[in-house]
Amino acid sequence: MVPAGPANILRSQDGGSKMSRSRLFPRMEKAERPHRHHVASPSKPPTYLAGHTREIGWIPPSIENFQKAMPGTIVDRGLEGVIVGSTELSNVEGIEGRLTYRGFDIHDLAQNASYEEVAYLLLFGQLPNKFQLEDLKVRIAANRMLPQPLIDMMHAIPKSAWPMDVLRTMISAIAHFVPHLEDGSHASNPRQAIHLIAKTPTIVAAWDRIRRGLHVIEPRLDLSTAANFLYMRTGEVPLKEAEMALDTYLVLLADHSYNASTFAARVCASTRADIFAAATSAVATLEGDLHGGAPGKVMSMLLEIGKPERAETYVRDLLARGDKIMGMGHREYKIRDPRAEHLEVMAKTLGEKTDPRWYEIARALEDASNKVLQEVKPGRRIYANVEFYTAPTLFSLGIPADEFTCMFACGRMAGWTAHILEQLGDNRLIRPQATYVGPTLMAWVPIEQRGRSTFTTTPSSNGNGKEKAKAEVAS
Ligand code: COA
Repeated sequence: MVPAGPANILRSQDGGSKMSRSRLFPRMEKAERPHRHHVASPSKPPTYLAGHTREIGWIPPSIENFQKAMPGTIVDRGLEGVIVGSTELSNVEGIEGRLTYRGFDIHDLAQNASYEEVAYLLLFGQLPNKFQLEDLKVRIAANRMLPQPLIDMMHAIPKSAWPMDVLRTMISAIAHFVPHLEDGSHASNPRQAIHLIAKTPTIVAAWDRIRRGLHVIEPRLDLSTAANFLYMRTGEVPLKEAEMALDTYLVLLADHSYNASTFAARVCASTRADIFAAATSAVATLEGDLHGGAPGKVMSMLLEIGKPERAETYVRDLLARGDKIMGMGHREYKIRDPRAEHLEVMAKTLGEKTDPRWYEIARALEDASNKVLQEVKPGRRIYANVEFYTAPTLFSLGIPADEFTCMFACGRMAGWTAHILEQLGDNRLIRPQATYVGPTLMAWVPIEQRGRSTFTTTPSSNGNGKEKAKAEVAS
């Protein structure tokens, strides 16, 4: 099991007095904010698209432009720059480094809104008033408890299981305890969305206890999502700083347009699979380290580096091996991820109360990465993404590194479910095309004439470690 970070700031029986979030985690002064470059709006292809638009030349990405370029357009690997749908939920403006949820800037939301307020905004289309917010909080609290058979299921899972594997299984399993329709599917509506938003943190906290051989702590009705999660891990009501830090983290992670896991959820929902199936697809897609799996690996780097002075040598060695620096780079953002700013402040503030090492190493690692990447990959715009300071922030809250991706899922469940409902509100099956590049007009060979060797083909691999490992096992 990966070691947990220091947890002493979590303990407070009184829950702390009311404190303003912006006072606890003030935004950095403009001059202090690192690496915010002004980038003019693009009239020609940004450098990061160089080499990606061979067939069509540079055109601003839009459906119309792709249609004009058809037929014969070869879309780039990874769908970079391709618009595959529309949404009212959130907007990522990667060149400017701006993120908005339903028009509200993430900086305003991070400073002022609670996770429950943001969940309401995403699910119901507007900021809640006091009564609406209270109502949602009560509904979330009332849906937190897991049915006993789900807890029993978790007890049957090997204690060594990775928390994300457990979460994926249990999100799928929730469906068994929700009444289904005649055809076996479940209603997909805000009520079920609240179900999922409420139960996800309970599953994560319960697994954390079960794998440590501890009894599962029942959720409390009177605490916020963030405070209740920390309470369910330790049995102690957290300090206000810890609650607010986690609450802000959940706000920052709540939605991010058509990222890979959200797109997976929408594709699944577009087949008219139900909300539990679509949410399971999303959790499964989040797992990889090019998406939500990165922050655990950032923490491994911080632990391995051990001292800020070692950061630069570490980065140079890592890049020389051809590896990527986890927590750096983003498909959309070509400047520093706007969410990193808030996470950095939280990592620093929490670190001052627990162990400042992790923030200090992260800060040195970011500086070293920016310096060395400019030398090694000139012209690429690779800066800290949301996962980078997530690592020291969550670690300072006492959350072990292998649960970081589950924490991402807790926040993103609001966005995923809102996207699933948005998709269903104006649904058409998502079914793209591929350019066939395999052999054609092959002559059929009877099995007796196909040679004797046991393995004639090697599974194609793009360098992905898991794929390689599978191929080795198979041979
Ligand atoms: N470290 C080192 N090099 C990086 C890099 C990183 N973190 N991120 C991108 N690059 C380099 C690639 O090596 C590639 O260089 P090359 O053209 O010389 O081969 C170039 O930048 C483009 O990278 P690519 O992976 O094709 O870009 P993408 O848009 O597909 O990648 C990510 C986006 C997020 C997958 C990528 O930046 C990455 O793997 N980051 C690390 C994992 C991570 O933090 N994931 C969480 C994302 S929120």
